[in-house]
This record gives sequence, structure tokens and C-alpha cells, in this order.
Amino acid sequence: MTFLQLKSSGFRRCAGAIALASMLWAATPPARAQSPRADGTPAAKGKAADTTDDRENEKVPPPLTHYKGREIARTMHFTGAPWLIRDEREREERASEMIAALGVKPGQVVCDLGCGNGYHALMLSELVGKKGRVVAVDIQREMLALLEARAKEAKVENIKTMLSLPHDPKLEDNSLDLILLVDVYHEFSHPEHMLRAMRRALKKDGRIALVEFREEDLRVPIKPEHKMSKKQILTEFPPNGFKLVAEYDKLPWQHLMFFTRDDADEAGEKEKSPTSCPSPLTPAP
Ligand SMILES: C[S@@+](CC[C@H](N)C(=O)[O-])C[C@H]1O[C@@H](n2cnc3c(N)ncnc32)[C@H](O)[C@@H]1O
Repeated sequence: MTFLQLKSSGFRRCAGAIALASMLWAATPPARAQSPRADGTPAAKGKAADTTDDRENEKVPPPLTHYKGREIARTMHFTGAPWLIRDEREREERASEMIAALGVKPGQVVCDLGCGNGYHALMLSELVGKKGRVVAVDIQREMLALLEARAKEAKVENIKTMLSLPHDPKLEDNSLDLILLVDVYHEFSHPEHMLRAMRRALKKDGRIALVEFREEDLRVPIKPEHKMSKKQILTEFPPNGFKLVAEYDKLPWQHLMFFTRDDADEAGEKEKSPTSCPSPLTPAP
């Protein structure tokens, strides 16, 4: 069975997932509060999320708690990783439909930024094929180790993991066809640093695919600080050098919005025109 042919789970009750999600985010120690090395906040008791080495962490600028009127959510701790690969996820989020809507082509270089334990990275690895590459980036070493174990078991060899810093994804300039951000942007403690870095890392016609739980929809059973409205997203991305080029509004719980660098030339603009968007994407107004 391929990763895109995800096992359809039995219809377990939504309430179970909600309760578990709340428990994981509420009860597990958040990396932002725990790891002084990640963001300069005082150490909490117990084992900290091991994000990167001490020398580099000293350079991390102070984290923000709010950005443009939005409360920044705490980082999901690696002990919550099993929730990211729960059987119900495909039914709840229709991840395979989301991945198909990305329009990834064989040979492309795609980054799963904030990859966690690799739920999407493993799916992307099939799409880019042997000639392509998935760059899987996370600030938690433990998440990357979990991903590597899953990739090894699946005999996947085109995923490169990269341990990053909260303000610096350590991506090569002009190197990426796509950056996928699933349920992570709202956790960025340094949103402007990250937006700048992502912008630099995209090829001229590269795209960001932003996936966030819909704040506008009260039925989406996720804590408010882990949701974003389109309005808020548009308050944050365009002023930081991005242009909305398409939207996919058919996912059950999440927004899927595509951005490019706003310095795209005429030819680049044509490539991102509605006719070249994987149907049924809605072109941006
Ligand atoms: C809620 S999890 C989502 C994981 C994955 N995208 C998924 O949907 O299964 C958020 C992940 O983003 C990571 N993260 C948070 N801030 C980050 C940053 N500035 N750079 C890279 N990863 C980050 C966290 O460590 C965590 O693994």
C-alpha cells in the first residue's frame, strides 16, 4: 500500500480526537515554555525539547508572544507526535486530497517545514520521486528522529531531514519549488524571520502552501490559538513580500492558501494563473 492510499479508519467519534488534541497541546509541556535554548525563555523543570545546540541557540532573538493582533501558539511537543499520525487524521483533514491539490511534480524539491514526525513528508516523497527531494525541517530533533525511523521502515530515501532554529529554517537560497506548512505557521515564534527566510529559499516561481485550521468555523474542534482566519493570514503574508495566488476551499477543517514571492515577473505570473492551478483551485481575487 502506498502512503497516498491511506488506510481508511473506522469512524471513531470526533469527540475522541478533540479530547486527545486538547490533551496533547494542553498537557504536554510546550517546547516554547520548556526550552530556554530555543527562544530564551526560562527553563521549566523536566526534560526540555532538544531543539538544537547551545552555541546556535544563543543567537536566537527574543520570541514574540503576539503578532499583528494574533496570539502565537506554543510549539507542539514531540511527545504528542502519535496524534499526528492517528488513523482518524485522513478522515478528519483529508490529507491525501490536500497533498493532491498541491500539484507536486516528479523531480521537484519540496520542503515540509515544521514536518513533525513526517506525516506529509512521506506522502510528498512519493510525488517527487527518485529524481526529486523532500527537505524535512523541524526545530525538534526528536521529531526528526521519529520521521527518519518511519522513512527507514518505508524504505524511502529521498527525504533529507534538517534541524533548524525557531527563527532560521536553514534553507538554501532559491532552492525550493514548494514549501508546505501544515499546522505550523501559527506556532512560529519569529514569524517575520521565518517569512523572510522562506521567501529567500523559494525559487522565483516557487510557492508556499499554507494549511491552517479555519478560525472562521466554530465547528472545527481545535483551540483558538491553533486556528487562523483568512483575514489574519492576509494581514501577515502580503506585507512580508508574498502574494496570494490560489486557494483550495474544499478541505473539511483547514484553509489551503498558495503564496508566491511578490517579485514574480510576467512569465512567472502566467504559470500561476488560474488555468495552471490544479483543479479545483480557486484563483485568488
Ligand atoms: C503541530 S506540529 C505539525 C507537524 C506536521 N506539519 C503535521 O502536520 O503533521 C508543528 C511542528 O512544527 C514545528 N515547529 C514549530 N516552530 C517551528 C519553526 N520555527 N521551524 C521549524 N519547525 C517548527 C514543531 O516542532 C512541530 O513539530
